[in-house]
Amino acid sequence: MKKVQEYKGKEIIVCFDASRCIHSGECVRGLPEVFLKKVEGPWIQPDAADVNELTKLIETCPSGALCYEKNDQTEAMPEINRIKVESDGPLTIYADYSLNGIQAESPRATLCRCGASKVKPYCDGSHEEVGFSDKGEVTAFNPDDKQESGIVEIKALKNGPLYLLGPHCICDAAGSIARVCYKITLCRCGVSKVKPYCDGSHAGIGFKAD
Ligand code: SF4
Ligand code: FES
Repeated sequence: MKKVQEYKGKEIIVCFDASRCIHSGECVRGLPEVFLKKVEGPWIQPDAADVNELTKLIETCPSGALCYEKNDQTEAMPEINRIKVESDGPLTIYADYSLNGIQAESPRATLCRCGASKVKPYCDGSHEEVGFSDKGEVTAFNPDDKQESGIVEIKALKNGPLYLLGPHCICDAAGSIARVCYKITLCRCGVSKVKPYCDGSHAGIGFKAD
């Protein structure tokens, strides 16, 4: 089966990648007439709401499971790349980024940092099942440094951390910028003692991830 499903409306194509959905529910709560719950057949009805309202709503999907194409345009990429460390949850990406060499189609993604997701490097909500606990605090390092724009390359290193190369900011769970950086490694095994950063603990626990 095709991984990304497309739902064509008169003015918009809505794409949905079920493997990236973390069931946060912004879609079904925000536009229930478009995103139908528990239906047989197509669950997205793009023409059931104003197209601008629909694009605004899609842009709130944190995982990037939803994206769109309107008048041959896709969602604009941000000037400043932000990586937010969620409390007891994933890393929320809002960035012009590539992942493992593939340029993203939308700026939004949620990446696993508990080590338990079955769809790594993406989050699948497993942090709740395993009781992952980390407040998402990030000590302020250089929050006032100049922020550059450009693509940030994210690589999920085999059996190791996420390696980020390119301009970006690390934000704490409250959304405040804590660090402006160009190169960093972030823990995705869940056991680092210096989260959100990697401290090499993945090797000690035999963390396995492609
Ligand atoms: S992650 Fe996106 S598609 Fe999944 S429930 Fe949340 S808003 Fe809807
Ligand atoms: S990936 Fe968790 S300590 Fe390196």
